[in-house]
Amino acid sequence: MRMVDLIEKKRDGQTLTKEEIDFIISGYTEESIPDYQMSALLMAIFYQDMTDEEITSLTMAMANSGEIIDLSSIEGIKVDKHSTGGVGDTTTLVLAPLVASVGVPVAKMSGRGLGFTGGTLDKFESIPGFKIELSEQEFIDIVNKSKVAVIGQSGNLAPADKKLYALRDVTATVDSIPLIASSIMSKKIAAGADAIVLDVTTGEGAFMKNIEDAKRLAKTMVRIGHLAGRQTMAVISDMSEPLGEAIGNSLEIVEAIDTLKGQGPEDLTEMCYVLGSQMVVLAKQASSLEDARKMLEEALASGKALEKFREMVIDQGGDVTVIDQPEKLLTAKYEIALPAKMSGYVEELVANEIGIAAMLLGAGRKTKEDAIDHAVGIKLHKKIGDKVAAGESLLTIYANEENVENVKELLYDNIKISDQFTEPTLIHAIITE
Ligand code: URA
Ligand code: CA
Repeated sequence: MRMVDLIEKKRDGQTLTKEEIDFIISGYTEESIPDYQMSALLMAIFYQDMTDEEITSLTMAMANSGEIIDLSSIEGIKVDKHSTGGVGDTTTLVLAPLVASVGVPVAKMSGRGLGFTGGTLDKFESIPGFKIELSEQEFIDIVNKSKVAVIGQSGNLAPADKKLYALRDVTATVDSIPLIASSIMSKKIAAGADAIVLDVTTGEGAFMKNIEDAKRLAKTMVRIGHLAGRQTMAVISDMSEPLGEAIGNSLEIVEAIDTLKGQGPEDLTEMCYVLGSQMVVLAKQASSLEDARKMLEEALASGKALEKFREMVIDQGGDVTVIDQPEKLLTAKYEIALPAKMSGYVEELVANEIGIAAMLLGAGRKTKEDAIDHAVGIKLHKKIGDKVAAGESLLTIYANEENVENVKELLYDNIKISDQFTEPTLIHAIITE
């Protein structure tokens, strides 16, 4: 087989076979296929698209390019959840203990934040002592005992995707549905998931700027999940404004604890019920989404979900006193209000720019090597559709430096107040097979 012939084939709109795709991915991983040929193929895929069978072959070839985590010694159906990108997305922190408390095993591998998106590992690490470096055996033992554990992603998970993603980034081929779908699904499959719940975000803060593209991406991932033997469901959610009220690591832990106590923001709570219900159904702990939701509502109301979080923090060596006194986590030196300049309704809160403002405070990384400050971030007091009076605080900035003028300016530029009421949308569609 010659790479040049396969590039030509895709360029001309033909379909690549599984053997051809395996040849390409193993050749690229072993470096017998150079970046310039792979770049040409990526651009051909960008224009010519791929069939579901091609995307499935590509997904499996990338998953098989490195370690496949074996979770078979954990009892039950392991359901993983993945979001295509959000700002202030606190769902995993709530969902892990919530669904575990109704019997769904959660063996979660998470990543760190980069740019305007936060990372679940960074958030958990704002609990003093919380350890995310467990051996594979410790991880499995904890999940078997308590149904839930979170660890850092193995370095050798889908290495072909890591290489391809870097190449896509510099060849203008990131926003291609077959390439995004295979990239995400290859990592979920390599991480050992039996079933997958996807939160496909749309809006300013997301890869998919419009609902039609988000639907296509979600449907593609659900189909290839099924073709690859993994039950998959998806939710199309709105990410034009941040989810919940907290953006920043400690702030989001506090928000998660509030939500597990039944006192969380409405949108975050709803997202957790919607995604959680899918996880419960895929894990075969309920036969319908409605039944699953009732189980989750009951787990939250009875305090069972919060108890599971407590157990999780103890299992992973964290300071469990923060659950009863979450304010202990709020150690930023300065709490600065951002008063509204006019009265009206909040019309826009541009998610990615608010994420950048939190990053500038130190809550996120500009580059992979940056250190982060767990204490800083932003707490929104007003969200889209809320009424605000001139002078009233829109949000609180938690900072460790006194001068945050640049951050304030960026926030003012990205919060629009108008005299028109705008109804926010949280969930655009639910995609099941
Ligand atoms: N997230 C991924 O992991 N891969 C993509 O291609 C896009 C988003
Ligand atoms: Ca949040």
